[in-house]
This record gives sequence, C-alpha cells and structure tokens, in this order.
Amino acid sequence: MGPVSADAINRYLKQTRELFGDELFLDKPQASLKEDPQQMNPDFPSDLNNFYKQIHQCHNCALGDSRTEFVFGVGDPEASLVLVGEAPGEKEDLKGEPFVGRAGQLLDKILAAINRSRQKDVYICNVLKCRPPSNRDPLADEVSECEPYLIHQINLIQPKLIVALGRVAGKTLLNVDKPLKSMRGILHDYHGTPLIVTYHPAALLRNPNWKPETWKDFKWIRSIIDA
Ligand code: URA
Repeated sequence: MGPVSADAINRYLKQTRELFGDELFLDKPQASLKEDPQQMNPDFPSDLNNFYKQIHQCHNCALGDSRTEFVFGVGDPEASLVLVGEAPGEKEDLKGEPFVGRAGQLLDKILAAINRSRQKDVYICNVLKCRPPSNRDPLADEVSECEPYLIHQINLIQPKLIVALGRVAGKTLLNVDKPLKSMRGILHDYHGTPLIVTYHPAALLRNPNWKPETWKDFKWIRSIIDA
C-alpha cells in the first residue's frame, strides 16, 4: 500500500477508537501479491485479457442466461484507482462496457476533474458482470459466484485504492447492511486494498445536492492516488 494522507489516517484512528476504545490492534501487514504471487487464485490466468477469455461465457448463475453481453470491465490494467459499481444496466448490457449511460457520462466528467479518465490510471467494473433483470439489486448467490472474478481483477491490477460507487456496491463489498452515509468518509479495507464508498453517479443525477459531498470524496480520492 502506498502513502496515505494524514486526513485518512485520522479518520481511520477515529473509527477504530469508536469501535475498540483506546487500545490499538495492529494487523501483521499482508504480503502484497507482487511480493507473493502464490496468493493469486491458481484457477485464473495472470493477465486481464486471458482472464476475460476464460470467463466471458460464464453461466455460473441464472444471469448468464438472461444477459446480452458479459460486462467484464474497462480501463488501464495498471490503474491506481479501481471504480466498482453494482451491476450493468440496460445500456451496459447491450454494449458490454460498464457505465456507458448518462450516469457513466457524469462519471467521466468527475474523473476528468481529478485529471483521470477511463483510459488513464482508472479501471471501471462492477460487482456483477451481468445485468440483473429490471436492474434489481444483486442477489447473494449471484454475488458469491461473481465476486471471485472481481477479487482476481483487483489482484491483477494492484490499485492503490478501490472506490465503491453507491450503497449497493459498498454494502456488498464490505458485507454489511448500512446506509451509504455511514460507509462514506471511512478508509475501509477490501482484501488488503483500501476502499472508499461514495455516491453512485446515477444518484447524483437524481439528487444534484449531493454533488458537493461527492466532490469532497473525489478530492480525498485524488490525494490518495496522487501520493
Ligand atoms: N450502474 C452501475 O452500477 N454499473 C454500471 O455499469 C452502470 C450503471
């Protein structure tokens, strides 16, 4: 893990104090995958292109039968930032690419504001690779089939930071049932990689009042990945 801002450390310590009081428990740091490639899932290939080839015809859950396209993910294979949404919507299902609708266009503008793009230092994907019917929330069995794919993508990319977009992506990755507001503003951990939860761009289209708070989150995100 790269350097983390003083603000992020303060938030982490405050959160730990609320949970555990004044005693500080330190985990033995996990060896990174670069240091110890044995941690990588041996059933999956060691580059993103071959990984896509291996899994893009997946039928491990019922969504494999209803999807149009498998939405693997797009972006820089060496990105320092991985953005994770909940699941493809209608446009993404037709195109095979995440965040291509109006929400995706807003996301592109937010990324431009931190001097990034979906080709430059960013990788975008979803918890689920296939669209749930009528855009319903992911089901537990779908998540348990699909999440190992996401974990392997993250292991291959080795980002500095993961950002979960929206409450559903956040609560699924953190395995908690909490409102977005109580997951925001905290540096979480996802299998050894720091993770932040922020608003979903589709929520910002419905509620532009949340844009200033989102901008605060993205300035924090920028400070972490620029460090
Ligand atoms: N919403 C998501 O969570 N993911 C997409 O790819 C598109 C919309």
